[in-house]
Amino acid sequence: MNSSEFFNALNRSEINEHKKVSSFGRLLVGITGGIAFGVTVICIPFITPALRKVCLPYVPATNNQIKNILLALEGRSGTLLDLGSGDGRVVLETAKNKFVSHGVELNRWLVYYSKLSALKNGLASCTKFYQRDLWKYNISAYDNIVIFGVEQMMNDLEKKFQSECKENCYIIACRFPLPNWTPIRTLGHGIDKVWIYDRKKF
Ligand SMILES: C[S@@+](CC[C@H](N)C(=O)[O-])C[C@H]1O[C@@H](n2cnc3c(N)ncnc32)[C@H](O)[C@@H]1O
Repeated sequence: MNSSEFFNALNRSEINEHKKVSSFGRLLVGITGGIAFGVTVICIPFITPALRKVCLPYVPATNNQIKNILLALEGRSGTLLDLGSGDGRVVLETAKNKFVSHGVELNRWLVYYSKLSALKNGLASCTKFYQRDLWKYNISAYDNIVIFGVEQMMNDLEKKFQSECKENCYIIACRFPLPNWTPIRTLGHGIDKVWIYDRKKF
């Protein structure tokens, strides 16, 4: 091998090495990009509520709040709807207490999670979760409605209850009361407080 052949061979091996490194780099960029894309897709439904007219973020009910909801429902039966059902905990706990419980929730991941939890807990047959906007969902079929909302939405929600709820419906508002209706009872304190309303009184 003369010197020019030697240098040519050396160049070729360097080029091959460089190609290997750059395909590894491309793979790394691809994986990182894929992960970033996946995280973004998952996070978007958690961030978009902040961009809506009324920002209702995902904040799960506390255990005491759920205890108060169940106490408020003592003596009640039939169908129940959780408006903005989050991870489905209110729907599942009320279903364990013999209600046919439904949840409406905008965030698709929370809806998938809720359906999976219902399956895992053997509650799939008495629960349903819909990926819907609570403002557009017809609530007239329900005997009991639970809402853990924010203060800014309670006035519009009261109007929706007034026009859509059936006469014997009970409404349980968590953390924030309805602005004009008088509750028949309240339970708990602070962040766990719930207000119970009887639709037929309004
Ligand atoms: C405060 S969390 C309450 C979650 C659940 N009800 C609980 O008590 O654990 C409110 C939920 O409403 C959902 N949400 C916000 N705007 C909504 C809308 N327009 N329609 C349906 N769900 C909505 C949010 O994604 C969030 O999961």
